[in-house]
Amino acid sequence: AAASQAQPFSSDSASSQPAVAAKLLILVGSQTGNARGVATQLEQQASQQGLAVELVNMADYKGKDLKKEQFVTIIVSTHGEGDAPDDAVTLHKFLHGKKAPKLDGLKYSVFALGDSSYEFFCKTGHDFDQQLAQLGATRLAPVVEADVDFDQAANDYIHSTIEQFGKALKEINGSSNLPANDLGNVVPIQSASSAFDRNHPFAAPVLANQKITARGSQKHIRHIELSLEDSGISYRPGDALGVWFDNDPALVAEIIVTLNLQAEEQVEWQGSNYSLSTLLSTHLELTLLHPNFVKHYAALLESQGVVYDALSTVLEDKTALRQYCAQRQLLDVLLEFPQGSAEVTASQLVAGLQKLTPRLYSIASSQAEVEDEVHLTVAVVEYESDVASHQHSQTRTGGASGFLAYRAEDAETVNVYVQSNNNFRLPADTSTPVIMIGPGTGIAPFRAFLQEREAQDANGENWLFFGNPHFTTDFLYQAELIKYRDSGLLTRFDVAFSRDQADKIYVQDRIKEQGKAIFEWLEKGAHLYICGDAERMAKDVQQALLDVIQDQAGIDADAAQDYLENLRESQRFQKDVY
Ligand code: 2AM
Repeated sequence: AAASQAQPFSSDSASSQPAVAAKLLILVGSQTGNARGVATQLEQQASQQGLAVELVNMADYKGKDLKKEQFVTIIVSTHGEGDAPDDAVTLHKFLHGKKAPKLDGLKYSVFALGDSSYEFFCKTGHDFDQQLAQLGATRLAPVVEADVDFDQAANDYIHSTIEQFGKALKEINGSSNLPANDLGNVVPIQSASSAFDRNHPFAAPVLANQKITARGSQKHIRHIELSLEDSGISYRPGDALGVWFDNDPALVAEIIVTLNLQAEEQVEWQGSNYSLSTLLSTHLELTLLHPNFVKHYAALLESQGVVYDALSTVLEDKTALRQYCAQRQLLDVLLEFPQGSAEVTASQLVAGLQKLTPRLYSIASSQAEVEDEVHLTVAVVEYESDVASHQHSQTRTGGASGFLAYRAEDAETVNVYVQSNNNFRLPADTSTPVIMIGPGTGIAPFRAFLQEREAQDANGENWLFFGNPHFTTDFLYQAELIKYRDSGLLTRFDVAFSRDQADKIYVQDRIKEQGKAIFEWLEKGAHLYICGDAERMAKDVQQALLDVIQDQAGIDADAAQDYLENLRESQRFQKDVY
């Protein structure tokens, strides 16, 4: 990183005139790209204000160089069970290890992204904050926690960061680092690659939208093609598409009826007035149930004397509450625990709901093949609610996937933007072999990879592992993949149809069967990719890979961990899991 070439400032030289102007280092650790988006906004706005800034990905930054820095702001997300993003793992570990330097010359702040419906909300950000303080650095501001609807928190953070560090930098560098404009008028800059981003999506016409699991499948998976014509949007294999959606009007109507509210009632929300139905349709999250809503609703009922023992029990235990939320939607709570003699007003309902956020889908196409189109492979979330009810429909559908499946017909448009993902990239050298493990919709980015490798005329070998329940109903992109195998683009192609025989067969079973060849590929420099289910599949596949490495290299479990860790650090082992 350029940071390591900067003139080092020890704390005693800081007061004298430095040879190189001090700068604010923005260190970013991003998994899905949201943290990177905030970092880019900060970089652009700060430099527009005349501040010396440098944006560096944590993965490219040497921890010991922090000793030479005076000002750093960290932007980092948290995933799953409090995990750091791949980009951040090495620096996080370094700062918590024995070799971490004293940092008493450093001033810092932290912007932490997370999802408050998980237990370890913003944990990685707090880890960095506490550890920097531990190492002697000075905290310029308390950690800013940002939830999935992070836009407002990000704007506030960008504002205050420019102000705080601008002042501090000015004291050292003189007036040249004083923010030039009135800070109240920061103009957001749009991303350089396209005029469209999360807050300015492109209305992409639907070109094709079809179910690709066959009749009789337990799964509903769709292939969707959108047009990016005239948008100027470009993307790379590995990137994701952000998809905005409206909630199902039938769901909105049911929620309103269940609470005896009026669709046209005016409600104030974030400083403006909306009709209740507009607010519920287009601004608020109705399909992902947040633990805080359950708490909020229970408290509203209880304050009016309506108490449910079952609800109180769920609320007593964090794990039980999260599990409860994972299997239900807002409507289920309202039906399971009716307001009865209590009365929940429209404003009270709205006050308990989160802002609607777009969903990210791994892009399933390469522009080398499809030009100004973008393709998605979408698993439609739908299940029967077990909340008994006569008047109400029992089927619950996912927010974005339900919208894409049932309300995004040909000639309609879908609001989208590209979220780039530099943590999931084909090797720059087209002769490098790749191993791709993508069961279920995890196939999506690998369809993009294969299209790209074919267009590149790449001579690197390609090995794909795919799995799904049944060969006859669930072999996604069967014709294309068989064609790739026959043409030789797919050097090896292994499938695991889990339910076609008495005992389940998964992709990791195929990996173990082929352990020798997998290890040979890794030893000759192959890049390794996993895409798909995070909770079970990715963990089990990773364990299978560790077993293979341990076996084939004749090393112990710790050494196998190190082997995989080295692959990850050299960007040869990349995951896109959800
Ligand atoms: P199953 O549903 O028959 O158990 C894509 O969803 C495929 O991944 C399905 O065949 C599914 O099998 C399989 N799958 C489920 N759990 C898995 C796991 N822990 N590891 C790998 N594959 C898994």
